Amino acid sequence: MESEFWYDSWAVGGTKTSFHLPNVHEHALLLDNLGLVAGARVLVPLCGKTADLRFFAETAAEVVGVELVPRAVAEFFAENDLDPVEEEPDVFRCGNLVIRRQDIFTLTPDELGPVDLVYDRASLIAFPDDMRQRYAEAITRLVRPGTRYFINTLEYHPTLPTPPFSVGPAEVVDRFGHAFEVEHVAAQPRPEHRMVEKFGLTSLVEHGFLLRAR
Ligand SMILES: C[S@@+](CC[C@H](N)C(=O)[O-])C[C@H]1O[C@@H](n2cnc3c(N)ncnc32)[C@H](O)[C@@H]1O
Repeated sequence: MESEFWYDSWAVGGTKTSFHLPNVHEHALLLDNLGLVAGARVLVPLCGKTADLRFFAETAAEVVGVELVPRAVAEFFAENDLDPVEEEPDVFRCGNLVIRRQDIFTLTPDELGPVDLVYDRASLIAFPDDMRQRYAEAITRLVRPGTRYFINTLEYHPTLPTPPFSVGPAEVVDRFGHAFEVEHVAAQPRPEHRMVEKFGLTSLVEHGFLLRAR
């Protein structure tokens, strides 16, 4: 979606930011259990104010979140009682946790530096089809050979014209298979998900994909 959609969502809050979860996501726990977080430099694109940032920062070497909307960044630090230093304009640091207030499409490999792990929860699926291709290209530019990239998606029927967009295994392979090895590591039916009742969905599956950059 275009920037305005996200500025509006954060300004309104409530159901408009219902993607925000109070607890650490189970896929973040999975990556930790796989030993991919400890000592790693982790990129969290489109981070919102997720609790996963702090969870990763407990053991990672460094965590870099990238978030477009200033309000989301401010809420993250306020709600976690953190007092960051703005080490460059729009780059906020608290120990080994950095949040860049930046459009992910403008982030360069030089600005980011090398990352070992990219954690994408509800980020690819935040964009419509044409932007998902640009996003895939942007993330592919930011990694180096060996970087692990975890992608969390929702796949549901019938499809909807607003985020989160439905993305399944075939699309992940299609968009990333040329640059990454793709392993489909989780597929959990979620009949209890709030979207099922709200939109009358007939199915909803939450997927996890673990990629390795070639
Ligand atoms: C669906 S939310 C996911 C948030 C987070 N990953 C989580 O698990 O709670 C998408 C987030 O990406 C942000 N966003 C949207 N477009 C962006 C862009 N081009 N660059 C950086 N952040 C963006 C939105 O403001 C929103 O916070």
